[in-house]
Amino acid sequence: MLSFIVAFDPRQGIGIKGSLPWHIRDDLRLFKQNTLGRNIVMGQTTYQNLPRKLTDRKIFVVSNDENYHDDEVTIIRDLIPFLKEHQDDEEEYFICGGASIYRQSYPYCQKAYISFVKKEYEVDTRFGVFDFDDWFITKEEEYDEFIYRELVRRKA
Ligand SMILES: NC(=O)c1ccc[n+]([C@@H]2O[C@H](COP(=O)([O-])OP(=O)(O)OC[C@H]3O[C@@H](n4cnc5c(N)ncnc54)[C@H](OP(=O)(O)O)[C@@H]3O)[C@@H](O)[C@H]2O)c1
Repeated sequence: MLSFIVAFDPRQGIGIKGSLPWHIRDDLRLFKQNTLGRNIVMGQTTYQNLPRKLTDRKIFVVSNDENYHDDEVTIIRDLIPFLKEHQDDEEEYFICGGASIYRQSYPYCQKAYISFVKKEYEVDTRFGVFDFDDWFITKEEEYDEFIYRELVRRKA
């Protein structure tokens, strides 16, 4: 199964200058809690701008750059075949951004873990394709700076 995990603001803003627009401790804690020991998939830009190393997770990095090598991750050269291959797996794959990876993966994801950040931030990157009509909410928790929701895709 493919899922995506994201934090976005009221206009689906997710990033600025290669980083997150905010530092929200509870959101980082939830990200860790949800992804520890699991498969995570992210674009090269997001991976290379991580403030610190993500440990105890199987990391897949999407990259077109043939010169890019990293022994600590599995590199995905072609995202769509990877998504098609794993969409029906029992194991869950967490799509962790950034924007280009979310956009391509969105139609294949059956579950979503979203932190709806309450305040609007200055951003240069947006998620852009999330539509509430595609999903129903299975879990909701309110925090000071965001509302955390888990959602499952509606059957067509
Ligand atoms: N708020 C959140 O939850 C959250 C989560 C993650 C990231 N972010 C933010 O999002 C921003 C980064 O997003 P981004 O869209 O710029 O970068 P990205 O999605 O992290 O990475 C883009 C990279 O992936 C490659 N790529 C994309 N599609 C590919 C495909 N189909 N096959 C092979 N390679 C592919 C691109 O290569 P080409 O350039 O050759 O196309 C590029 O090197 C940052 O600001 C980050 O902090 C926010």
